[in-house]
Amino acid sequence: MPEGEDLKDLQERLAELKRQELGGVNVPPMDADIKQEVTKMERATEASHKPVVAKEREIGKLAESPSGPVGLDVGTTHIVIAKNETNHIQTIKQLNAFFTIPKSKFAKKILSNNDILYYELDDLFYIIGYSADNFANMFNTNTRRSIKKGLISTDEKEGISVIQAAVLSLLNRPKRFGETICFAIPGDPLHGNGSVMYHESIIKRFLGHMGYTPISVNEGMTVVLSELSNEDHTGIGISLGGGMCNVCLSYLSFPVITYSLQIGGDYIDSMVGQSVGEPATKIKRIKENELDLSGEPKDRVMTAFHIFYDDLINKLIESLQRVLSSSDQMPMIATPIPIVLSGGTAMPKSFTERFVKTLKNYKLPVEISSVRLADDPLNTTAKGALIMAMTEAE
Ligand SMILES: Nc1ncnc2c1ncn2[C@@H]1O[C@H](COP(=O)(O)OP(=O)(O)OP(=O)(O)O)[C@@H](O)[C@H]1O
Ligand SMILES: [Mg+2]
Repeated sequence: MPEGEDLKDLQERLAELKRQELGGVNVPPMDADIKQEVTKMERATEASHKPVVAKEREIGKLAESPSGPVGLDVGTTHIVIAKNETNHIQTIKQLNAFFTIPKSKFAKKILSNNDILYYELDDLFYIIGYSADNFANMFNTNTRRSIKKGLISTDEKEGISVIQAAVLSLLNRPKRFGETICFAIPGDPLHGNGSVMYHESIIKRFLGHMGYTPISVNEGMTVVLSELSNEDHTGIGISLGGGMCNVCLSYLSFPVITYSLQIGGDYIDSMVGQSVGEPATKIKRIKENELDLSGEPKDRVMTAFHIFYDDLINKLIESLQRVLSSSDQMPMIATPIPIVLSGGTAMPKSFTERFVKTLKNYKLPVEISSVRLADDPLNTTAKGALIMAMTEAE
């Protein structure tokens, strides 16, 4: 039998079986199915090369009903959706935070007049997203979070309804019932705290109720899907977010090893804040606007940033060495593989250089060809989830 014939034979028999199961209903020949799959894969690969055009949710703007697959990132700090447009990937972002104020007629008038996003529950107004941040600043306090360290918070009773409201502010029901939506979920935390299964199921349920077909994808894998199409989706994707670091080693697009560490930007803000006696929100602002990890730090706040960034990078690479070395899933990879870093915590100037310098102190069981920063670190996960949705869509 010529090479490939046995595979074709098997495919024809499977198609035949399918026809029989369906009681003679005409099933398209397997070749057509494969062709459709190939076209879908090509479209998804093409999408991974498109630039991201990102925007924040505009005040007063109604959520859209998408007419194609959607990528969704429900993160500790941000919620992001991604859609495939002709020449670009469109992402829209919302802050994943809330703030409550007591119900009153007066407050209601102010909220409505200013197009502030809120909903009512019991005797409170729940203000959602970027508006919550403005309110917290006005009251000189912090916003509250529905997700902590990457997973639905156990300390916030109304956390789930807050997440739903934030997602609904970006996304309406799909134009076509059953449209595919792919959402990112964390890998299991190495030092287990909280249930990924509960987090995943809650999100899946409400997306299903909205009329979508929800599919989950590991957050580290979204980095691989978004950034490593030229490398056959082989490499290590790391998303460093607000609550977590998510790691995925992918081999030919299979997420072979995945895990998370429950440290990220929030950990840095709180440790630096405690060390220099400043509130974490102030530290976060300085970090996002001024932090440069190259050279020597110029004052005590910057010194603390350098110390805790080094701490995070060391913990991350140490875990990578430990997990890869002890895993029995580790594929035999002959050629060196790339590492791609993404997420807001990887964004300070010279972060990648610092990561590379630290990596030299460790010995991984696989050779690394390069370390690079994703093209658009705050939108990589939503883009990768979209690519997954495009390949999975019916
Ligand atoms: N320019 C910047 N420099 C440094 N840190 C930044 C910058 N922009 C955002 N961040 C930090 O990145 C974090 C948010 O990143 P991201 O949106 O990737 O997280 P997330 O996906 O919401 O969280 P997670 O994946 O952990 O659940 C916050 O800690 C924020 O302060
Ligand atoms: Mg994230």
